[in-house]
Amino acid sequence: MSTGAQRKRSQNPKSPGAVEARDLGDARQPFDVRRYYDENTRALVRFGQGRSQGAIHRAVFGPGVSNDAEALHYVEDQIATRLPSGDGAAPRLVDLGCGVGASLCYLASRREIRGTGVTLSPVQAALGEARIRAQGLGERLTCVVGDYNRLPDGLVADAAYAIESFVHGSTPERFFAESARVLEPGGALFVCDDFLADAASRARLPDADWLERFRFGWHVNTLLSEPEAVKLARHAGLSHVETLDFSSDLALGRPRDRAIAALVGLLGRLPARSTYYRMLYGGHALQHALKRGWLRYLMLVFRRDGGVRC
Ligand SMILES: C[S@@+](CC[C@H](N)C(=O)[O-])C[C@H]1O[C@@H](n2cnc3c(N)ncnc32)[C@H](O)[C@@H]1O
Repeated sequence: MSTGAQRKRSQNPKSPGAVEARDLGDARQPFDVRRYYDENTRALVRFGQGRSQGAIHRAVFGPGVSNDAEALHYVEDQIATRLPSGDGAAPRLVDLGCGVGASLCYLASRREIRGTGVTLSPVQAALGEARIRAQGLGERLTCVVGDYNRLPDGLVADAAYAIESFVHGSTPERFFAESARVLEPGGALFVCDDFLADAASRARLPDADWLERFRFGWHVNTLLSEPEAVKLARHAGLSHVETLDFSSDLALGRPRDRAIAALVGLLGRLPARSTYYRMLYGGHALQHALKRGWLRYLMLVFRRDGGVRC
């Protein structure tokens, strides 16, 4: 861990070369997430729900949302309103699993922030850098290839967030430990993802069967309940502040989803060699689990112990 003086000096780096991405790859990670995103990001950005905004996450039709673009930024808006003040300086953000940098760009358009995005995928990092440059944000944002379980040395942040990336990691205790390491005391961590409503679902049928389909299809390595996540975070020195439940604000059962359900009902797991089909298969299982209430789409908010800046 760096000293306080080092932490203060090492501001958000301006270019990918300014932080050394440490070696990638978690040997314990059964699903190859990096390859998955290298191969599928262009299709996800072109055909996914968030395509208009470059988002690789779900739209949330929460209170006050009047169109798809707002729904795609709903989670980011919740983060923006909870960012630490930065004591007059621009808050430094880390996006833990940044996709193509769309969330950082959006937040930078709303708030005077500086930010670093970390993604396992070199394809995403290149697309992210291009997006940042195209929006004229190169002085404030950067996107690097890295592992959120082994964050770059010298990275320091007032807030960090993970939108739909937490479930991919197979060592959540390392995720929390690394988040705590880079956060200033009092800094905020936001984790928005799918969580088990009840840990007993892991061993109960039919829940377990559908959850396994979701894990297989979406390269999910970790599915925790909220209390399990809170406990791990606590152990890393992160106190739970609040939980926002967006489950009932998701768009489930759209015509596209019904078409996918019919296709998956017909083909089952057979064409799963196609990673794109596998994603549809997992997405169908996810919708089923959300509708049954076995999964909840939550945002957990934590504060790093040792200060009151948030
Ligand atoms: C569903 S996408 C979400 C992307 C982005 N947060 C968004 O909302 O558009 C999942 C992201 O998590 C990233 N990811 C998964 N595991 C990671 C890890 N161990 N370290 C860094 N990024 C990771 C992937 O590279 C990908 O960018």
